[in-house]
Amino acid sequence: MPSDSDAYFTANRCNWDERVGIHRRDAGGSYRIDRFLEGDDRLHSIEDGELGDVAGRRLLHLQCHFGLDTLRLARRGAAVTGVDFSPAAIAAARELAGRIGRPDAVFVEANVYDVPDVVAGGFDIVFTTWGTICWLPDIPRWAGVIARMLRPGGFLYFADGHPAMQMLEEIDGRLLPTYPQDTPPDRPLVFEAATTYTGDPTPLAARRTYQWIHSISRVVNALIGAGLTLERLDEHRVLPWRMFPMFVPAGDGLWRPPDSQPAIPLAVSLTARRRA
Ligand SMILES: C[S@@+](CC[C@H](N)C(=O)[O-])C[C@H]1O[C@@H](n2cnc3c(N)ncnc32)[C@H](O)[C@@H]1O
Repeated sequence: MPSDSDAYFTANRCNWDERVGIHRRDAGGSYRIDRFLEGDDRLHSIEDGELGDVAGRRLLHLQCHFGLDTLRLARRGAAVTGVDFSPAAIAAARELAGRIGRPDAVFVEANVYDVPDVVAGGFDIVFTTWGTICWLPDIPRWAGVIARMLRPGGFLYFADGHPAMQMLEEIDGRLLPTYPQDTPPDRPLVFEAATTYTGDPTPLAARRTYQWIHSISRVVNALIGAGLTLERLDEHRVLPWRMFPMFVPAGDGLWRPPDSQPAIPLAVSLTARRRA
């Protein structure tokens, strides 16, 4: 196993570079690219119900992947900057922006932790959703980046998998606690995946990734410590990807466990505002 964050980031970036081409083809329809190219600006119902109006706002999208949500938010009138450390993702995002006539959308290739060095701050909104902090070892440092990028009074919108769900594995038809929460920064969980999560069977060459599970208290306390005030926090019983084989569609591209399973929190979302 690599011994420092740079080595973890390099392995993860190779994995993401490879996934971009597969996701861009959208064989399983997870990314709803056809709908996007037709002009759609909908996010999932969770974010749509919570984010509010972004028109006229300067919005920074951290870990924007190949820019679909960034460009959906641009269509709603936000002045968007998307950041991702995958060169393949940023190239695909710029290509899509040109294709839909949004050359004003800015896409920057950078590690989240380097963003204050390469992007000017003063944003009204930092937006980061679905599969982001599991790639980051240091949550207080992540919260510090967000605080530096927001103007006083600006807010963070965050939605992601719930840590109580991330600790589970499906084993013999049951969801069992398998991973401890609050992964130490220097001892990530190591995963090997032969394919990506969209159902596309294309084999991955860069299969190994390094990930971290962060408790809600770790996230919330880091944001408070960085100078943000928590305005709301919600837990959800649906998720925008099929986390476990037993999951069944819940409508609108969301997934949930079958009725035979006890209700568990699958996602968490929050809004936190930078104190003046
Ligand atoms: C699951 S995707 C996020 C998807 C996102 N919700 C969207 O808008 O499509 C995770 C993204 O995080 C990026 N990423 C992972 N670690 C990163 C890091 N340390 N710095 C910047 N980007 C990172 C990956 O390249 C990938 O595009």
